[in-house]
Amino acid sequence: MRFLTVLVSVAALFAFNASTVGVSAVLLDLDLGHILGLDFTERTHYNAPIEPWRNGASPGWYIGQHPERHPKLFCLVGIICKILDLFPGLPKCPKKPVPPKPTPTPTGTAPYPTPTLPADGYEQTFTNLTGATQGEGYLTFGLVDTIPDCKAFCDTVKGCIFANTYNDVNGKDGSTQLTCSLFSRCHDASTATNTGGQTQPDGSVNYIRNSNGWCKK
Ligand SMILES: *[C@@H]1O[C@H](CO)[C@@H](O)[C@H](O)[C@H]1NC(C)=O
Repeated sequence: MRFLTVLVSVAALFAFNASTVGVSAVLLDLDLGHILGLDFTERTHYNAPIEPWRNGASPGWYIGQHPERHPKLFCLVGIICKILDLFPGLPKCPKKPVPPKPTPTPTGTAPYPTPTLPADGYEQTFTNLTGATQGEGYLTFGLVDTIPDCKAFCDTVKGCIFANTYNDVNGKDGSTQLTCSLFSRCHDASTATNTGGQTQPDGSVNYIRNSNGWCKK
């Protein structure tokens, strides 16, 4: 209840005095941790402070259609998305995919260059490896339903230009969910060196499958 009160009073400040907007933003930022119940900022690598290749790492968030399957994870759905929308510097929930626009019919006679980039702006740097990226520029990692969700989330994370998607078999509490690991620099196959081998609490050992690299151009 207290936090609802805070939000309402901030809204009132916005309404009555535009010059207090800066101050209001600071008040909101200070209370974000209380509103969400965790520290979802750059400082904590968005709730995933330990790199995925280190012991003790656990995903900081889940993005997808089945939050009920991830009751222990911070799920970016519903009201959480609306709260994140209020904070300019923070990641956002990916929007539902927009159907592609019909390509305009070319006019004139000049030859048209073949587009060299996929529509989402990400170039694939490696495909279907058995190692996940272990390298510089780690930002955060979580679980996703789809590769497009991982890229769309990267688009909203400050500094993100590289996404590594993979299945961490036997890892992350036995989930076969796709892992989405984000970086501030692009990586190729040479740093896809985390092949698993971490013993899990239940005694099984994890391994990596279907690891793909996506560099934003
Ligand atoms: C990916 O690699 C595995 C071997 O690690 C292979 O069995 C599988 O067929 C490959 N998948 C694709 C889509 O190429």
